[in-house]
Amino acid sequence: MKIGIPKEIRAGETRVATSPDSVKRFVSLGVEVLVEAGAGEQASISDAALQAVGARIVPGTAALYDEADLVLKVQCPMTEAEGGPDELGLMKKSTVLIGLLQPLYRRAQVEDYAKRGVTTFAMELVPRISRAQTMDALSSQSNVAGYKAVLDAAGAFGRMLPMMMTAAGTIPAARVVILGAGVAGLQAIATARRLGALVSAFDVRPAVKEQVESLGATFIEVKSEELATAETKGGYAREMSADYQRRQREVIHETLRKQDIAITTAQIPGKPAPRLIDAEMVRDMKLGSVIVDLAADTGGNCELTEPGRIVVKHGVTIIGHTNYAARVPTDCSVLYARNLYNFVAPMVDKASRGLKIDFGDEVIKGALLTRDGQVVNPALLQSKEL
Ligand code: NAI
Repeated sequence: MKIGIPKEIRAGETRVATSPDSVKRFVSLGVEVLVEAGAGEQASISDAALQAVGARIVPGTAALYDEADLVLKVQCPMTEAEGGPDELGLMKKSTVLIGLLQPLYRRAQVEDYAKRGVTTFAMELVPRISRAQTMDALSSQSNVAGYKAVLDAAGAFGRMLPMMMTAAGTIPAARVVILGAGVAGLQAIATARRLGALVSAFDVRPAVKEQVESLGATFIEVKSEELATAETKGGYAREMSADYQRRQREVIHETLRKQDIAITTAQIPGKPAPRLIDAEMVRDMKLGSVIVDLAADTGGNCELTEPGRIVVKHGVTIIGHTNYAARVPTDCSVLYARNLYNFVAPMVDKASRGLKIDFGDEVIKGALLTRDGQVVNPALLQSKEL
């Protein structure tokens, strides 16, 4: 079996779906690893480093897709309609494609995978059960994004984060609030605390309170009976009622007046990001405050976020970088490549060294999008809650 890793061609994507560590592991399974020349360049992973552990470097995407039985990608394939080469069209019909394919936001493309006859898996849909933690790409990438968001905020902030007592006077600690304390939010709390800030955090999932407090941050509560049903079985947040959102807005508005930095990370799978900060709240923040909107990819948690841009509105800097993980390409590639290895390794038959996928397995069933020309994923077919 040949595994192929192409160079990512979507704008702004700096990561690659491999690393020397993952190549070494696949090679020891008896699998051949093909990597497109220059694929790891933007992640500072050289062709030579991959070659040294057994990868074969292939010049050009077409040549790679021509040979690969299993394609590992970061982003979903580029399409002609989006101005790029038709990556899917280059793949063989029998190809198995695995990547962060954004199926809940790109349903039409999932139909295209089925029409093309390609078997596809979305890493976002790997169930978040204990057994699959080592395959959890959402967590590995969000964790890094949460860290980087705090550093970006600190960089754009005209003050320091820690309290500092000096001969020239005392500088108070900065106040940082984290809205959405999932994987990215918890890492943002830890990072901001390490830098000496006073941190508070808010989330609709009540289970988060203890985690926030164990990291030394204050939990901001919006009391409501609705909180009892705010979390899905899969551990994600549900969309809240208009009444809850109104009360939440009041609490966030009051909180933001006293903050220096706000990091927002709130997401609802398959839906636009919930709006947590409106223009009026930004206007009422202190001059020189910074907002980092980690939900910019799905529309943003702040009304004034401009996805992909850094803007200053009412004296507040609003950072709306999309694809945050791509801002830390080396570590994100290495972690993602390990997630992929952990997902793929059980599919490799030890005796034949070919693919032998157990389609009855819970993890496989959760992530599988298309097979035998059909869309088969329950989350897509029945809009099943994650
Ligand atoms: P996410 O990226 O979907 O959302 C980020 C955060 O935003 C979540 O904590 C969510 O509750 C929060 N949020 C959504 N709407 C909000 C609103 N209106 N106001 C405030 N906050 C809002 O979630 P993420 O970080 O990918 O994971 C969520 C949870 O999944 C984890 O905290 C955990 O419970 C579970 N999980 C389980 C794992 C496992 O192996 N068992 C591994 C990783 C995550």
